[in-house]
Amino acid sequence: MKVSKLVQRAGTETAFAVLAKAREMERQGKSVVHFEIGEPDFNTPENVKQAGIKAIQENYTHYSPAQGILELRETIAEYITKTRGIEVSPEEVVITPGGKDVILFTATAILDEGDEAIYPNPGYPIYESAIKIAGAKPVPMPLREENDFAFDREEFKKLITPKTRLIIVNSPGNPTGGILSVEDLEFIADIAKKNDIMVLSDEIYSRIIYDGEFHSIASLPGMKERTIILDGFSKTYAMTGWRLGYSVSNKELAKNFVKLATNSFSCVTTFVQMAGIEALKGPQDAVEEMRKKYEERRNLIIKGLNEIPGFRVKMPKGAFYAFPNIEGTGKSSKELSDYLLNEAGVATLPGTSFGKYGEGFIRFSYATSLENIEEGLKRVKEAMSKL
Ligand SMILES: Cc1ncc(COP(=O)(O)O)c(C=O)c1O
Repeated sequence: MKVSKLVQRAGTETAFAVLAKAREMERQGKSVVHFEIGEPDFNTPENVKQAGIKAIQENYTHYSPAQGILELRETIAEYITKTRGIEVSPEEVVITPGGKDVILFTATAILDEGDEAIYPNPGYPIYESAIKIAGAKPVPMPLREENDFAFDREEFKKLITPKTRLIIVNSPGNPTGGILSVEDLEFIADIAKKNDIMVLSDEIYSRIIYDGEFHSIASLPGMKERTIILDGFSKTYAMTGWRLGYSVSNKELAKNFVKLATNSFSCVTTFVQMAGIEALKGPQDAVEEMRKKYEERRNLIIKGLNEIPGFRVKMPKGAFYAFPNIEGTGKSSKELSDYLLNEAGVATLPGTSFGKYGEGFIRFSYATSLENIEEGLKRVKEAMSKL
């Protein structure tokens, strides 16, 4: 069978492949500690679950408008207006089945063959994949450990060409946990405005921050019209399997996103959208409780990893990932990640799953219990002493 060039250009997410391998090992009776997949281990808050059940009972089981239910878009517009300090209207919001689609929508709605798009590397692998699907050239923006995984301004400036049409930023970042400062965002914003470049701001971890504050590039003067905010419910409300996210962009782009939605999923599951209204409007205690638990876990895993010879990691400021430098072990990212899974039953992801600048690192998702973290650290320590 002939597979199209477009699909051949697409990349993938290694996390799902490692998860499948780890599950297969478990099926064969081996014990695995999971640090591979970036998903909260908490359950969706009870009020949100009840809102979903109620919505099914009230027959929110039909199609909704492709853009999403107006009440949810109004709720999101209010939420973004409040949290980002910009005036947002419901026409500027598009509901998607997870934040992920916003990446593909942005790339396909903005980029043409021959265009260039700058994306963080190491970064969420779907950025590079989506740029490639759109037929444009992915230009990696290296994130450096020595800069706390922010980009180097001089290096960044040199990446801009007359063909640059899109810059992707992700703060707090996956896989590094790094946060971009207001000054960094201002630097990008200035370049974007001067060169007429759009910015995709992936803010999916905006509520999972431990040190410092969250800032959106969309809040900076003149940036609202040229920024696409990607956000959603997966991480903040432990709703990964519900598939609910959204974009906030200028109206013209929103209309084009709706066109793409109409061509693919038609609308997001209607009762899921209703649960989203409760998530944003209801009590927020669960969000803060989860954040505090992630913080405790972060402190434990970072301390433990730094005690392992050959590992070195700074305290990440947000998200739920530890991204230790493992060059001191003498192994490549892939070799070490494979070794830990096969020998110690510890599932991690090689840094190279997040791009070439991830070599020398592995990623631990610490969205798992303190007991699992302790057990995982013990196993890694033991396995490393055998090397
Ligand atoms: C940086 C980043 N953006 C977007 C997503 C997509 O999340 P979802 O599609 O579940 O909303 C993820 C999920 O892992 C992520 O890490």
